[in-house]
Amino acid sequence: MQQRTIGSRKVSAIGLGGMPMSIEGRPDEDRSIRTIHAALDAGVTLIDTADAYHRDAGEVGHNESLIGKALSSWSGSTSDVLVATKGGHLRPGDGSWTQNGRPDHLKEAAKASLQRLGGDAIGLYQFHRPDPDVPYAESVGALVDLLDEGVIEMAGISNADPSQIREAQEVLGGRLVSVQNQFSPAFRSSRPELDLCAELGLAFLPWSPLGGISKAGDLGSRHDAFAEVAEAHGVSPQRVALAWELALAPIVVPIPGASRPESIEDSVQAVDLELSADELERLSAETLD
Ligand SMILES: NC(=O)c1ccc[n+]([C@@H]2O[C@H](COP(=O)([O-])OP(=O)(O)OC[C@H]3O[C@@H](n4cnc5c(N)ncnc54)[C@H](OP(=O)(O)O)[C@@H]3O)[C@@H](O)[C@H]2O)c1
Repeated sequence: MQQRTIGSRKVSAIGLGGMPMSIEGRPDEDRSIRTIHAALDAGVTLIDTADAYHRDAGEVGHNESLIGKALSSWSGSTSDVLVATKGGHLRPGDGSWTQNGRPDHLKEAAKASLQRLGGDAIGLYQFHRPDPDVPYAESVGALVDLLDEGVIEMAGISNADPSQIREAQEVLGGRLVSVQNQFSPAFRSSRPELDLCAELGLAFLPWSPLGGISKAGDLGSRHDAFAEVAEAHGVSPQRVALAWELALAPIVVPIPGASRPESIEDSVQAVDLELSADELERLSAETLD
C-alpha cells in the first residue's frame, strides 16, 4: 500500500472514514466490524472517527468504541494504525449537529475519547469545526494543552479556512499536522485550503471524498467525466475520484467512508490506478452544474 505522511507518522494513502457505521442508517455491529477488518486486511493504517459519530443521545463515542473493538479483535498487529478522532461537535439525538469549542469541553472530550480508544495517547486529535461563540485561538489552545499533557500525539483541525489554518499553526507553535475539509468531485471549493496545506507541508484529508453517504453510490451518474474515465480503465467511478484526489498533491489523504467491506476494498485500489495527464486535466476541468 502506498504511504503518505501525517506529521511524524506514515499512513496508507487511503484511509477509512468511520461515520457511516455509527450515524443514521448504520449497519449492525457485525457488518461494521467486518468492514473495519477488511480495511485493515487491505493495508489501511488510517481510520478517521469523532466522538460525535453516533445516532442517539447517550451514545457519545459510538464510532470510537466500535473502532476500538475492531482493532482489538483483528488478527494482525495494529501498532502502525493511526486513529484520528475529533472533538467539538455534539449530537443531541434529534439528527442535528451542534457545537462546543470551549477549551474545557475539548479537553474533557479528548480524555473521554482516549478512554474509549485505549492506549497511552490519541494518535491524531482534530478540532472538528470552528465554534462561532468561541474565539478560534482559544479552541485551538486546548490542543496545545492536550499535546503538552501527552493526551494527544498530534493535532489537526477540520472545516477551517486559510486564515484559520494559519492562525492554528501559529497558536500551536508549528505543531499543526493536518487539515480535514470537505473535498470531492462535487465539492471543490476547499481547493485553496488544499493548496495552502501543500505549501505549508500539512496533510490534507478530504472528507466526504465521494460526495457524501447519500450521493457516493451515484458518483458516476452525477459526473460524466469520472464515469467515462472509469469505463476506460474498467474500474469504479469512485476509484477514479479517489485516484484523482491523490494525484492533486502528495499531502492529500482521502478518507472514504464505508459500511460494507466491498466499498473500502474497492476504494483502497485507487492507490494503484494511474491516470494520464490528459485524464487528470479532464477531471479537474469538469464543469459542475
Ligand atoms: N470533518 C468533518 O466535518 C466531516 C464531515 C463528514 C465526514 N467526515 C469524515 O469523512 C469520512 C468520509 O465521508 P462520508 O462518509 O460522509 O462520505 P463519502 O466518503 O463521500 O461516502 C461514503 C459512502 O461511500 C460509499 N463508498 C465508499 N467507497 C465506495 C466505492 N469504492 N464504491 C462505491 N461506494 C463507495 C460507502 O457506501 P457503503 O456504506 O455502502 O459502504 C459510504 O457510505 C466520514 O466517514 C468521516 O470520517 C468528516
